[in-house]
Amino acid sequence: MDIEKRINNLLSAMTLEEKIGQLNQISSAKNEEKLKELIKNGKVGSLIMANTCFAGSEEGRVENIEYFKELQRTAVEGSRLGIPIIFGRDVIHGHHTVYPLPLAMASSFNDELVKTAYRDIASEAALDHIHWTFTPMLDLSRDPRWGRCVESPGEDPYLGSRMAAAMVKGIQGDKLSDESSIAACAKHFIGYGLSEGGRDYHHTDVSEPSLHNYYLPAFGAAVKAGVQTVMNSFNEIGGQPVASSRYLLTDVLRGELGFDGFVISDWCAIQQLINHGVAADDKQAAELALNAGLDMDMVDECYIKHIADLIKEGRISEETLDNAVRNILRVKLRLGLFEHPFAPKYKIDKKEHSAHARELAGESMVLLKNANRALPLKENERVALAGPMATIKETHLGTWTLDGDENDVTSIAEAMKAVGGNRVKCHHAWLADKQMILPWDCDTYVLCLGESRLMSGENNCLADISVPEDQVALAKRAKREGKKVVAVMCFARPVAMQELEPYCDAILYAWHSGTEAGNAVADILYGRVNPSGKIAMTFPRVTGQVPVYYNYLRAARPCNEYYGQGRSYRDIPARPMYPFGYGLSYTDFEIGEVCSDKDTLSLSRLKNGEGFKISVKVKNAGDTDGKETVQLYIKDEVSSVVRPLRELKGYKKIFVKAGETVNVEFGIGFEELSFYNAKLEKTVEPGEFTVYVGNDCTTDNAIKTVCIVS
Ligand code: NOJ
Repeated sequence: MDIEKRINNLLSAMTLEEKIGQLNQISSAKNEEKLKELIKNGKVGSLIMANTCFAGSEEGRVENIEYFKELQRTAVEGSRLGIPIIFGRDVIHGHHTVYPLPLAMASSFNDELVKTAYRDIASEAALDHIHWTFTPMLDLSRDPRWGRCVESPGEDPYLGSRMAAAMVKGIQGDKLSDESSIAACAKHFIGYGLSEGGRDYHHTDVSEPSLHNYYLPAFGAAVKAGVQTVMNSFNEIGGQPVASSRYLLTDVLRGELGFDGFVISDWCAIQQLINHGVAADDKQAAELALNAGLDMDMVDECYIKHIADLIKEGRISEETLDNAVRNILRVKLRLGLFEHPFAPKYKIDKKEHSAHARELAGESMVLLKNANRALPLKENERVALAGPMATIKETHLGTWTLDGDENDVTSIAEAMKAVGGNRVKCHHAWLADKQMILPWDCDTYVLCLGESRLMSGENNCLADISVPEDQVALAKRAKREGKKVVAVMCFARPVAMQELEPYCDAILYAWHSGTEAGNAVADILYGRVNPSGKIAMTFPRVTGQVPVYYNYLRAARPCNEYYGQGRSYRDIPARPMYPFGYGLSYTDFEIGEVCSDKDTLSLSRLKNGEGFKISVKVKNAGDTDGKETVQLYIKDEVSSVVRPLRELKGYKKIFVKAGETVNVEFGIGFEELSFYNAKLEKTVEPGEFTVYVGNDCTTDNAIKTVCIVS
């Protein structure tokens, strides 16, 4: 039977209490007897498998699957209508097999690998009775002080949109009702990444056109990819908390983006309308949130306690309640929960998942410096490993890893020794000793630097993102020995490396890359994998340069320091440390002249779907095969409102054999040339556009004649 008919049938059989129950998400921390009682009475629509709101920074595996099955049995066999519970959990960048942090994954610029990773992740999670994950996090992040930037796909709306689609498709699979498919959740809607000063949960402000041009696109892409749920963000915009904004949750999310699943509140976000000062008590908070279009209440019980009264008092209509219930039942039905409410049984190929994790970790890591071809190491090179991350395992799992096991992680030292054998020595004391005496019987120091996984993620922000002083001191000391110094940077967020960089011959940014982090580092250092990652967020020189991002708006005075003009600060060079899209390879790619199949096109033809075909020749001019991410940026030369200096509008990650040349083509149409104007119309204004194609955002390789005539 058609899903909407099934929803109608269910709705007509439901009591008011049962309807309200569907909107209620309970935490698994609740007392078992109490929980079962609530379930029997139809008062639990969903269960979050987490005990606290800081699940991302705490231990807590899904251990007792039988317990969750029993709860589900209580719902389907013991409640009047037998509606299954939807179990949700934060499975953010891995379940048992852990993949790189989302910011690192985005730096792979490899949509297919990211999708495969999320397919694996969902199929592992489904086996543990998880129907729904609170992923992907799509908050555009321009401030590396904000601990949650590591959960995001970075600073760019186009890259964020491509990642959003890949992640949602991976999580939800080809068919939502397949047993290994789980529901995705695009979060946090919307503008959370703007938290002032990079301080979590703080005030945000954004203009409507900016919201539409930068912050909404990734959510639009997630909706287009079929995302089933959306989570509100804690912040307010223009004085209206998102949790109580009908404009954002209904007009924009459903009206403009076309979302038809359900909206879940973030943890206690409804009750926190009281903290915001827009609700006097839980009851008013419930009224505001449900009327705004927030369908399910995560753990604060404002709905279950107050909606019945609010309906009696006419403050919420029955139709509003029914719509929320419909949205939730629709997702449960699409997931096939009524047909298979319990965890499925199938075998996963753990080795295959590890291979995917290793490949993705290898493509996510970014080679930032390689002076005099310090890397790759030769297999007979005598290597001394030092630094805090050489033997550590747990850190590689990164924030928001609830079910990963550090025993599954191969450390950098183990992986390096597996290749270099006894030519690799590990200098245990991470700062050597008090005088920092480093071993002399080696050719190269590999310094494994980094930060603990508790330094990033939710509510883990930093006022100073520079590399810790003692780690800089280690590099300085190593350089003084006159040996080759290679830094492997196991940091979650972009850190400020101005102090460290001069002491390193090579820098590999390894992020927190999951179970296979150590192996991926060894693969790259020994040249078994040619690095191909490109940073998804700008790296500032010093903390004071933050926020710094590539697509900023054009200013009155030339202060385009990002692109080498002007100067913002007297005490640092103009450009950031490493620009967006930057990353080296062991080979050299030469990107040829940018060609367009035509010079002009009329607006009407553009609107009818025609466009420009842009092409470049890409030559691998070195002697190593490798992958390059060819990036296309557009600048709208003159427009009615101030537009960015350039914007990413296409990328292709290609493999080119040494010495070979390939032709790379991009299409540019209405989508790529349009923007939201002051009236929030998506528009293309006739005129000239400059199209850049290169291997990072600062490229000068461009064609200027692409022109739209009215
Ligand atoms: C709060 C976080 O903001 C959100 O990302 C997470 O999914 C929920 N807690 C549930 O743990």
